[in-house]
Amino acid sequence: MKKETYILQAKDIKKRYTMVKRQALEVLKGITIDITKGETIAVIGPSGAGKSTLLHILGGLDRPDEGEVYYGSENIFTFSDDRLARFRNREIGFVFQFHHLLPEFTALENVLMPGLINGQSFSNSEKKAKELLDIVGLSERMSHFPSELSGGEQQRVAVARSLHNNPNVLFADEPSGNLDRSGGEQLHNLLWKLNDEIDITLFIVTHNMELAGKADRIIRLIDGKIANSED
Ligand SMILES: Nc1ncnc2c1ncn2[C@@H]1O[C@H](COP(=O)(O)OP(=O)(O)O)[C@@H](O)[C@H]1O
Ligand SMILES: [Mg+2]
Repeated sequence: MKKETYILQAKDIKKRYTMVKRQALEVLKGITIDITKGETIAVIGPSGAGKSTLLHILGGLDRPDEGEVYYGSENIFTFSDDRLARFRNREIGFVFQFHHLLPEFTALENVLMPGLINGQSFSNSEKKAKELLDIVGLSERMSHFPSELSGGEQQRVAVARSLHNNPNVLFADEPSGNLDRSGGEQLHNLLWKLNDEIDITLFIVTHNMELAGKADRIIRLIDGKIANSED
């Protein structure tokens, strides 16, 4: 039998927060997940279940107290903070509920920024940013500032920005949580188009069951544990 090759594996991840004068809060109680390249995963569960904490740890934004995360054969939490940051810049894209675009820069400037930060020339970064804005359907809005875009357009700019360094995995934390229905649908269609066309692996935290239903797999997180997963 062919051995599965996983792009990402989390092994028995535990995370707790210790707070002054209070009992430590166990937020993740042993999470194990194997993710195949190109897979689409939706994470659902009540508020406070640990979904964002899990996303941050799998994406290398936060470190677990126990457990390991492997990208291919690399255990990313053996990396120094600097190396982890470089790894994250190159391999991972993030989209959050709020777009976090820089208000004083245009859509194009926001999207080309990661290229500059990664040491690319301005012209290469700009060329790539234009291609990405085309992919997300915003070629006509390149010179608009974030305040001149709808909520859905702002999120699509944030998606374009997250793709500038060609990540293998896109993590999205309630990406349509702030959008109206049609803005949300457009964003979801975009995420699935990216999965189809560039085979990007999607890991999406959502309360939107329509969106979750499109995923290859739903992971239900309750009180820091995986309650079930469906194929
Ligand atoms: N930095 C922190 N310090 C203390 N508690 C935290 C911190 N971040 C999150 N928590 C707590 O951890 C639990 C899980 O949070 P989170 O992962 O954001 O849940 P979800 O995304 O599922 O709503 C919540 O009870 C939250 O209050
Ligand atoms: Mg959350």
